[in-house]
Amino acid sequence: MALKIAVAGKGGTGKTTLTGMIIRYLVSNKLGRILAVDADTNSNLNEVLGIEVKETIGGTREKMKNDVPVGMTRESFVEYKIQESVNESDGYDLLVMGTPEGQGCYCAANTMCKRYIDVLLDNYDYIVMDNEAGMEHMSRLLTKDLDYFFVISDPSRRGLMTIKRIKDLAVDLKLNIKNFIVIVNRVRGEIDNATKEFLKEHGITPDIYIQEDEKISEFDMLGKPTYAIPEDSKSLIAMNSLLNKIFRANN
Ligand SMILES: Nc1ncnc2c1ncn2[C@@H]1O[C@H](COP(=O)(O)OP(=O)(O)O)[C@@H](O)[C@H]1O
Ligand SMILES: [Mg+2]
Repeated sequence: MALKIAVAGKGGTGKTTLTGMIIRYLVSNKLGRILAVDADTNSNLNEVLGIEVKETIGGTREKMKNDVPVGMTRESFVEYKIQESVNESDGYDLLVMGTPEGQGCYCAANTMCKRYIDVLLDNYDYIVMDNEAGMEHMSRLLTKDLDYFFVISDPSRRGLMTIKRIKDLAVDLKLNIKNFIVIVNRVRGEIDNATKEFLKEHGITPDIYIQEDEKISEFDMLGKPTYAIPEDSKSLIAMNSLLNKIFRANN
């Protein structure tokens, strides 16, 4: 069984950027076979990683409605197309979910897609999933059983409230989440007292604070994948030390 890791939180707080760092950590420590999953409909994990996407699950699902080639069953076509949707890169694969599931006539296609995605997941040791800002994804299949759930915020009140809402929702939905990791990202200097009070009041204990990092901004502005920021960037150092603790690897 693969170890399942998912990342969630308010929009613009750094989910995709930090997902890239988790993937980089697993790849550079050679911890096993890694599947990155972009479950955001505005998918941009590939931009952070710096790779091209050929196909998405949404696109595959669309094609399945009418495009089955002569001599092929719909089932074997789905299996083939899902295999084909896996984008291979250096040390990991990327699966992009694309547009969300439709209604009605898509039912059969959805069921088949889910079945073959499950088969596919079995081929990996780590699944790392980047999610969209909303919380709708939390009731979906892929976020149900998680080994590590990274919840990201910036130091804003609304971002921190979202952490609390995500935690409460996980309880309400009876999700099976083994470990919650809370990250407050994009911190400028010291955390102020009001924020500290807020965290205390709501029982939120961040596992780590990550500073606003000009290296990330620089790469972002130049359109360079932040996956490739230098080893000595402060955000990457902070993230790696947290991941070292979590995964107990020595590097
Ligand atoms: N620690 C950081 N320092 C500076 N910029 C950051 C940091 N973390 C994220 N960013 C920037 O913030 C913006 C939003 O990040 P992104 O990862 O796309 O967030 P999300 O996936 O949560 O919407 C991007 O421009 C990204 O480069
Ligand atoms: Mg994102």
